[in-house]
Parts: sequence; structure tokens; C-alpha cells
Amino acid sequence: MSIKIKSDREIALIRDACRLAAEILERSAELAKPGVTTDEINTFVHEATIKAGAYPSPLNYHGFPKSVCTSVNNVVCHGIPSDQVLKDGDIVNIDVTCLLHGYHGDTSRTFIVGKVAPNVRKLVDAAERCLEEGVAAAYPGSHFGDIGGAIQDLADEFGYGVVREFCGHGIGRNFHEDPMVLHYRTRNRGDRIQEGMVFTVEPMLNEGAPGVYVAADGWTVFTKDGSLSAQFEHTLAMTRNGPEVLTRLD
Ligand code: MF3
Ligand code: CO
Ligand code: CO
Repeated sequence: MSIKIKSDREIALIRDACRLAAEILERSAELAKPGVTTDEINTFVHEATIKAGAYPSPLNYHGFPKSVCTSVNNVVCHGIPSDQVLKDGDIVNIDVTCLLHGYHGDTSRTFIVGKVAPNVRKLVDAAERCLEEGVAAAYPGSHFGDIGGAIQDLADEFGYGVVREFCGHGIGRNFHEDPMVLHYRTRNRGDRIQEGMVFTVEPMLNEGAPGVYVAADGWTVFTKDGSLSAQFEHTLAMTRNGPEVLTRLD
């Protein structure tokens, strides 16, 4: 296993997959409303992906049964769409990954459903800021460990728990490839970031303690203490001048 350096041609293809994923995620915002089921979000993402000539990467990935992950409230990630009805005051992370012309693009956001309590909005805003700090720490010559350091610094200011069991990842022909992009500080700065590397940053922040467990379904990840969890994800390509965020729509 090693970190692949992508050619300009490959990055152009990943850019297309990322744009599609970002567009579908943006359009799914209007489904993050009270009364909508997470299965309805799945149907929308599935159909929009197929209509665009792409494949929804989660579907059958290591047996995952649906086309998108929908993670509500105290679900950290890998929530399976179901007949669960979103209600006023919930938060839901929608994580969209598209496989287009042989390359994957991966992005997620946590949406606020209706009107939420101030502490909830604060957690969601902090998670988005942590993603931005993580991306800003990535430039040619910095190290993968610097990304987690920047995220942890901001999360610590709020006293939020940074989830350690799940990380960002290289992406391209494979949904998940080297490196693992940790979201917390380590003693070792890790590999150096180079031009042509393409990877995700996707911090998960818990309002309480960082611990998680996986449910009996083998997928759904919950916070151990029952606290809320929020996540944002971008895919980025490293250029000579810094990160190009491939899943940001302008
Ligand atoms: N999209 C998730 C990520 O950001 C992975 C989901 S894997 C699945 O890496 F099988 F649950 F879809
Ligand atoms: Co990802
Ligand atoms: Co994802």
C-alpha cells in the first residue's frame, strides 16, 4: 500500500465525480426537512446518481445495503437509510459518493432539520469549521498529521470529542485507498503531502466524549455516551499552490 500520485487526467475525472456528488448533496438539502424519511433521501440520491450516468459508491460496498449514508443525531456515520422520519430539531449527515467514469468523489454535510437548540447549531458549525481548518493545514510539504492537529486544536477549544475510529482517506479508482487521514493529533506528523495526492478530510465531532460503538447491523456507528455527532466531508486534490477542494461548488 502506498499513496498514489494522480495525473492531471485522473484528477480531471475525479473532479467530475466530485462535482456530481456535491451537486446531488446540495439538492438533497431540501429533503432534510421534518416529515421526510431517510429512505426518501436514499431514493433521491440513488435516482439522481443513476440519471447522471454514475453509480452510488456505497451500494453493496462491503455489503452496505443502500446508496447513501444518512446519520441522524447520535449516529456518528454509516447510518443506513430506513423508514425513520426526520423531525423538527434533528440533525442529519448525508454522505454522498459517486463513481463516475471509473473514479469516486465523496462529500457530506450535516443538515439542521427545522429549528434546533443553540447548542446543536454550535456543534454543527464547529464541525464545519474543523473541516475548513483541516483543509487549510494541507499544502505541499506539510504532513498528513498536521490536518488532524489543526482539527483537534479547534475541537478542543469547544470541548468536543474528535472521533478516532474513522478517518479521511485517499480516493480515486478506489473508494478508500491510502493514506488514512486522521482527524486527531498524533506524535508522528505522518507522510508528507505532495502535489497530485487526492484525499478526503471528514472530521466527526461529538458533543460529548469521543467514544463510539458499531450497532448489531454491522454498520451504524453511535456515540457511546448518546451525545450528538456532526460531520462534514470534502474531497481535495493537492496542487502546487495548495488544496483544490473538488467537492466545493462555486
Ligand atoms: N462515505 C463514507 C466515507 O466518507 C464511507 C461510507 S462506506 C458505506 O468514507 F459503505 F457505508 F457506504
Ligand atoms: Co470519505
Ligand atoms: Co463520505
